[in-house]
Amino acid sequence: MEKTIDFDTNPPVATTEYDDRARRAIPGYEAMHTMALSFLKFHLPETANLLIVGAGTGMELVKFSNNPQWQLLGVDPSTNMLAIAQQKITQNDLSNRIKLFQGYTHELPETPLYDGATCILVMHFLPDDGSKLALLQSIAQRLKSSAPLILVDICGEKGSREFEKTTAIIKLFWEEMGMQPEQINEGMKTIDKGVYPIAESRTIELLQQAGFGDLVKFYTGLWGGGWVAAKN
Ligand SMILES: C[S@@+](CC[C@H](N)C(=O)[O-])C[C@H]1O[C@@H](n2cnc3c(N)ncnc32)[C@H](O)[C@@H]1O
Repeated sequence: MEKTIDFDTNPPVATTEYDDRARRAIPGYEAMHTMALSFLKFHLPETANLLIVGAGTGMELVKFSNNPQWQLLGVDPSTNMLAIAQQKITQNDLSNRIKLFQGYTHELPETPLYDGATCILVMHFLPDDGSKLALLQSIAQRLKSSAPLILVDICGEKGSREFEKTTAIIKLFWEEMGMQPEQINEGMKTIDKGVYPIAESRTIELLQQAGFGDLVKFYTGLWGGGWVAAKN
């Protein structure tokens, strides 16, 4: 049986290589985070408390900390990914504004409520058996009314003609981005066995079921989709 993806025990890519690989593998990775930041700046007050779900190696934490009055909590189950995030926090002297929590969102206390949240490139690792909805609900429970959520995920229905076509294009994109054949194979294996993408219509349905509205799609990167939504 295939092991499910776990960034500590069965990572899709060595955690030390994550930052480079994400920039090559995810179309517009840096620009997508910059767009997310722009939406947050538009929606949030100057002083705000942000919940970063699936903080990983700290991309959002460091990028969003360019706003000196935001406090950030990064949540992630992976010790190895958070260790890299912690190094960046220390190097950038951000320990007073960024805290880390190793674990899951539903394990966080139900207060304080946050002014905004992100969940970037996380939900596709969870199957659509109630786990995706539970993740979104655990975020919704910790947000103030009207608070924005940025959700970015790989989308599409495995087995569909469109998904097969996009996968073939992704492979060519990865070649153009300088990924080596073994890295491409590793990526394709993750797509095949390690992620659970869903149709965009299903993502929207889950967001609405979890208590989010006012959805705006802000990012498309081949199969990647990004939305900003507001907690009802
Ligand atoms: C692909 S990385 C994305 C990291 C970062 N958000 C970025 O944009 O680069 C996915 C991260 O989600 C974390 N993760 C997996 N399942 C999670 C869950 N249920 N809740 C929170 N984080 C989770 C993994 O440990 C990993 O660090």
